[in-house]
Amino acid sequence: MPDREIALREGAHIILRSVRRDDEARLRAMFAQASPEDIHYRCFGAMHDFAGHMAKRLAHLDPKTEVALVATTLPGQTPEEILGAVHIVQDPNALDTAEFDIMVRSDLKQHGLGYRLMTEILQCARQRGLEAVTGDILRDNFAMLQMAQELGFKTEIAEGADAVRVKVTLAELPAFAEAELRSS
Ligand SMILES: CC(C)(COP(=O)(O)OP(=O)(O)OC[C@H]1O[C@@H](n2cnc3c(N)ncnc32)[C@H](O)[C@@H]1OP(=O)(O)O)[C@@H](O)C(=O)NCCC(=O)NCCS
Repeated sequence: MPDREIALREGAHIILRSVRRDDEARLRAMFAQASPEDIHYRCFGAMHDFAGHMAKRLAHLDPKTEVALVATTLPGQTPEEILGAVHIVQDPNALDTAEFDIMVRSDLKQHGLGYRLMTEILQCARQRGLEAVTGDILRDNFAMLQMAQELGFKTEIAEGADAVRVKVTLAELPAFAEAELRSS
């Protein structure tokens, strides 16, 4: 995906671009600012060296089966910072389906960035010819559950007691998610 400047719903401008290998330190800085609650929601628990592990994972993904997008500060605002990241990985047993994960820097939540990252990664998934995107969400992660519902995800199967699996069929994205993709 080419680098693109976009406006969030409250008017703030950011850059959306594909992740790069040289993003590892910037990703680590973003993940290091995650609140314990957000780490819990992202990993379903605590993780040793959460920031280092997540940064390495995203910066060195397999482009054949994975896509990751990052939101960054505008050029000229040095040093460049990563504000959020979204990632999909194709299911090795069902290559027409990918699983998403997402993290917005904890101090930047609720400004529309997560929603925008989700609509963009769904568009990427569709452009790759995928049919569906899934995700596992803890039952008390109301922000993510609400966003998933608004984006047309349906609850598919319960993953144990604490999480649900959600799935959206890309041919059935709601019109407003399509509209978000056309706006900037
Ligand atoms: C879940 C998470 C990604 C949400 O990110 P965010 O940037 O805070 O989310 P947004 O601000 O885009 O969306 C929040 C709200 O705006 C809504 N929204 C945002 N933009 C919108 C738009 N253009 N149109 C309609 N609704 C919109 C969302 O549905 C949601 O509803 P609310 O306003 O009633 O709260 C963030 O909380 C996070 O990183 N959590 C920790 C990690 C995690 O839970 N990941 C999920 C499991 S992998």
